[in-house]
Amino acid sequence: MGADAVKHMTLSIVKRSEALGAEIRGVDLSQSVSEDVFEEIRAAWYEHLVLVFPDQQLTNEQHIEFSARFGPLEVHPSGKYVLKDYPELLLLTNKKNDKGGYVSLRDGGSVWHSDLSYMGEPSLGSLLYGIDIPEIGGDTEWANMYFAYEALPKTLKKRVEGLRAIHQFDQNDNPRLGPPPGMTVDEMKGSIWEKKSPEIKARTPDVVHPIVRVHPETDRKALFVNRRFTTFVVDMEADEGESLLLDLFEYAERPEHIYRHKWNKHDLVLWDNRCTIHLACGGFPDEQIRTMQRATVRGEVPV
Ligand code: OGA
Ligand code: MN
Repeated sequence: MGADAVKHMTLSIVKRSEALGAEIRGVDLSQSVSEDVFEEIRAAWYEHLVLVFPDQQLTNEQHIEFSARFGPLEVHPSGKYVLKDYPELLLLTNKKNDKGGYVSLRDGGSVWHSDLSYMGEPSLGSLLYGIDIPEIGGDTEWANMYFAYEALPKTLKKRVEGLRAIHQFDQNDNPRLGPPPGMTVDEMKGSIWEKKSPEIKARTPDVVHPIVRVHPETDRKALFVNRRFTTFVVDMEADEGESLLLDLFEYAERPEHIYRHKWNKHDLVLWDNRCTIHLACGGFPDEQIRTMQRATVRGEVPV
């Protein structure tokens, strides 16, 4: 067997959809992964954008350790939704405490987005670990933003060339979104609609990013806008900008650009925030517990 064959025999890689996503077997992420295997994983990641690692038994330390191989981890700006002893891990759950209040964020990700696109240096990738999986619903979808860009008609490609857009964390600043009608302040607790504190506001000033970015590793162009955080187009009237953004979202969210993930307990899913957007599909009853923990890798200024 040649050296090349040996180099590629470690992992089993099976595509999960036409658009993006692959399942990776043959690696135990609770063990320190060798440099060679890590490079195989990274190559598969650049090719498939979303990697699913089924059946991983991970402690918080192991989740953090593997995630940190991709770069420094971000402590999520929503300080109170991170694990007290592991601030690199964001807790997404609909669990309640004795008093009936939600213990953390219960509806994170329920509008299409790229994690932390509202930061000057948005996240390059996220690693989400499935802990409690509801029997019904709770899927997550990812969309391929290279495909979104490539699908744009020539005229639209030309129109967005060099254009930039504003990204904002607080969805109360997003004219496209609003809380469900009749939601009370109490119900907003543990929800994405909860009022942001002055500290969070201070850590998340509005930022401007190119509408089309070049992935620094693959050199491919990807659309970089999303419904949740992208609010306005720079140097354009609000109406005109909104109509352009709505057009772009249509290309981004086309069914043929999407992988829908049905979670199994102990799946670890790694995705690339530079060339994908994702959506928590919801649709599970509040009595069924869904708990996920996410590590978020810091990225670079998009260009
Ligand atoms: C996230 C996210 C989606 C989900 O963790 O970044 O958006 O389905 N999660 O929980
Ligand atoms: Mn997310």
